[in-house]
Amino acid sequence: MGPSQQTVMLRPATLDDVPLLQAWDREPHVIACSTDDPTATTAFDGSDWAEEIAGASDVSYHLIAEVDGRPIGAMQIIDPLAEPTHYWGEVEPNLRALDIWIGEKDALGRGYGTAMMTEVIDNAFADPSTVAIIIDPLNSNTDAHRFYQRLGFRIVGRRTFDGDDCLVHRLDRAVWQERTR
Ligand SMILES: CC(C)(COP(=O)(O)OP(=O)(O)OC[C@H]1O[C@@H](n2cnc3c(N)ncnc32)[C@H](O)[C@@H]1OP(=O)(O)O)[C@@H](O)C(=O)NCCC(=O)NCCS
Repeated sequence: MGPSQQTVMLRPATLDDVPLLQAWDREPHVIACSTDDPTATTAFDGSDWAEEIAGASDVSYHLIAEVDGRPIGAMQIIDPLAEPTHYWGEVEPNLRALDIWIGEKDALGRGYGTAMMTEVIDNAFADPSTVAIIIDPLNSNTDAHRFYQRLGFRIVGRRTFDGDDCLVHRLDRAVWQERTR
């Protein structure tokens, strides 16, 4: 079966996924997408995954993507106005903010990321109150910009988050609906 016929399944992250998330944090391609700091040895500032997963709520949670039962990557879905860390600062209501990373290197560039995003975006807009989806790739991550822009995201501005130079992208409901009609 070719990769395009393999289905990506998304499920909530559990505490059993902590070792896997920690291992992905040490992958150079994951570190590179998470920070501009060339000396970093772990991604996401060494997040405490057990704490993150135990603290999951409607306004911030993680999903794990599996292909044929093998976990390959993760996503985070937040309501940027309501989530407690206020990472995004002052934002309008009714947005969703996403993060995505494929931790298994051999699973990159096979269409899985597109499938993961499509399912999560469809889900986000299934809630009639959702206005748009925002993401904050590093300004240096031009591969990711191409990936997001192919999904319909547009650049809204350059912004520094925790010392990292990011290029904020946004996907409005109307653009997604036009695309999937
Ligand atoms: C970005 C990412 C989620 C895309 O998922 P994917 O399954 O690799 O992408 P798809 O196969 O669906 O689509 C391929 C496109 O993804 C983009 N892409 C980004 N990083 C890539 C990588 N390391 N390898 C291959 N494609 C990559 C490219 O735009 C590629 O299209 P291209 O043929 O024009 O180069 C995934 O590559 C990834 O996790 N990369 C490392 C972490 C990262 O950069 N995350 C984004 C943080 S903002």
